[in-house]
Amino acid sequence: MKTHSPVSRSGRFAGDPAAEVAQFTESISFDWRLWRHDILGSMAHAQMLQKIGVLTRKELQAIVRGLDAIGKEIRAGKFKWNPALEDVHMNIEAELTRRVPAGAKLHTARSRNDQVALDIRLWLRDEIVSLLGEIADLQRALVLLGERNAEVLIPGYTHLQRAQPVYFAHHLLAYVEMLERDCDRLWDCHSRVNVCPLGSGAIAGSTLPLRRELVAKLLKFEDASGRPQITQNSMDAVSDRDFAIEFCADAALLAVHISRLAEDLILWAGSEFNFIKIADAYTTGSSLMPQKKNPDIAELARGKTGRVIGNLVALLTLLKGLPMTYNRDLQEDKEQLFDTVDTVRATTRLMAAMLRNTKVNRMACALAVSDPALLATDLADYLVRKGMPFRQAHHVVGAVVALAEEEGKPLNEMTLAELQCVHKTFGRDALGVFDVQRAMAKRNIIGAPGTKEVAKQLARWRKQLS
Ligand code: ARG
Repeated sequence: MKTHSPVSRSGRFAGDPAAEVAQFTESISFDWRLWRHDILGSMAHAQMLQKIGVLTRKELQAIVRGLDAIGKEIRAGKFKWNPALEDVHMNIEAELTRRVPAGAKLHTARSRNDQVALDIRLWLRDEIVSLLGEIADLQRALVLLGERNAEVLIPGYTHLQRAQPVYFAHHLLAYVEMLERDCDRLWDCHSRVNVCPLGSGAIAGSTLPLRRELVAKLLKFEDASGRPQITQNSMDAVSDRDFAIEFCADAALLAVHISRLAEDLILWAGSEFNFIKIADAYTTGSSLMPQKKNPDIAELARGKTGRVIGNLVALLTLLKGLPMTYNRDLQEDKEQLFDTVDTVRATTRLMAAMLRNTKVNRMACALAVSDPALLATDLADYLVRKGMPFRQAHHVVGAVVALAEEEGKPLNEMTLAELQCVHKTFGRDALGVFDVQRAMAKRNIIGAPGTKEVAKQLARWRKQLS
């Protein structure tokens, strides 16, 4: 009698798998982390089996108690995982059956194919909810930093060249918008993760009268109005990993957004910009250069984006060319998915914490934004208000900029005579456009970095995120 080989080999196989085969095929070393959801799924399945008469009440009770006890041992780190039993599903079931004879009935009308699809969906559903909370927290950290520095202006950049003045908060709120789209996408993804595949069996359902909707309800696979969500094609259900790919795509875009934020912070923390100072606890030192304080959190956030993108590509490649339905290849989905979840969750949390420990260097920001060239467009707008076509105004101001450069002085120090020498439309009030406070007060259309508009947007986000 074989003692260690998994139930999946009993009967038909003459012996255990070769040691290296067992090692090659096992997944317990990584899928053990599905244990909580595996147990929840089994409990719901058992409840349904009792309702349709496969289990007696007593057997159900024994199974639920047994699973509960196993769950407690796993949580306490006392459960011994056996690699010979391949995966989390067979480890738990084998131990249950060892303790409770009725455990042998638990797998009725269930296959590991629909079981693993169920477990990943249950697990990912929870992870998405946690991640959404963490993204909201990162958004709050951005809003808070903006509020604390509500009057700070910095140059906005295009092509990494100084372009036009913006409130520092406006720059931060750009990321809040990006993150909000990530949340929308993740919620949308959640609705497709939130569909119950159990009852699909190995590929073709079951001859037993399973009550799939009951299982779905027990496991809260429901839409907003409480209707149970269950898969509609058993073959699709056991081979579908679209929901995992979709999540990885959403996570990749989230990681890209965080990476861009990281890049801005890295630039700002450098002495060339010097716009921000990250607290010591959130920076690291150099082993050689004693003066260094490095923004390693932001750099790692940027760097880890590579693997998050890589995981998406790995999953797409895994699915490409798979014949219907379940193929063992699909076991390779988990490490990528787990790594993606772990990476984006940690990155999101750390970025939020770092932002909460970041101060703005107001002097350096004020100095950078004092460059009057940032308001050259406002000077063109001044001419437009006087009736000049914008294309001509652009040309005229370009000539003023060239003249100022030639004379080696800043734009706002040009005399009226010099301006009128370029074009006689310039009046006494022309130099007024270089008052940056007034310039910001004028930008009050929706979405612009105007004084009132940015305050309004900060208040809107504050309310929405509270
Ligand atoms: N460990 C497997 C996986 O992660 C479980 C499903 C195995 N099913 C099978 N028929 N071999 O995909």
